[in-house]
Amino acid sequence: MTNIAIFASGNGSNAENIVNYFTSHEDINIAMIISNRPNAYVHERANKLNIPSYTYNKNDFGSGTDILKKMAEHEIGFIVLAGFLLKVPQSIMDAFPNRIINIHPALLPKYGGKGMYGDNVHNSVKNAGEIETGITIHYINENYDEGDIIFQAKCNVLSSDTALDIANKVQTLEQIHFPKIIEETVRKNLKNIPKY
Ligand code: GAR
Repeated sequence: MTNIAIFASGNGSNAENIVNYFTSHEDINIAMIISNRPNAYVHERANKLNIPSYTYNKNDFGSGTDILKKMAEHEIGFIVLAGFLLKVPQSIMDAFPNRIINIHPALLPKYGGKGMYGDNVHNSVKNAGEIETGITIHYINENYDEGDIIFQAKCNVLSSDTALDIANKVQTLEQIHFPKIIEETVRKNLKNIPKY
């Protein structure tokens, strides 16, 4: 069994969708959710879904030590960032080489980098007059949104679309693709994931 930790800062619609997808899965288990915000709605979702969720502050995310300890207790082998705003500390990246993936709500390398989160991304896409956007699922590295790309999917952008319309199209793509890509990526990396 591979245990996954989801890191999420906000609403948690991806986290919930991922948890539901892997319910009773034969070899993947969503074991915990970690957030940097005590009031994030993702905690309520976790509660309802019976998944333990924890909050860590900026200092904890600076060092990574306590988070690594908690993940060891839950025998975590793989990390999924689903709407996570902070940088992952080097200590956690070192402990999970090629075992941390992120979803970004645009077609990287466009509209990535620090501050490019949620609606900022969709507003930028709209203001640039793009005719398409989409999602990117990628490994993380030490720079925001620059790790190797695993998967992209596209949707069109109409000139009449608001940023909210664009967000809805992108979120639909996230709901369809993210759990399946997590499943494929974990299966591909099984030999690198420690067994508990
Ligand atoms: C998602 O659209 C995700 O792609 C985006 O945040 C949203 C979180 O929604 N991530 C980023 O912008 C990362 N730079 P959710 O909390 O409802 O899953």
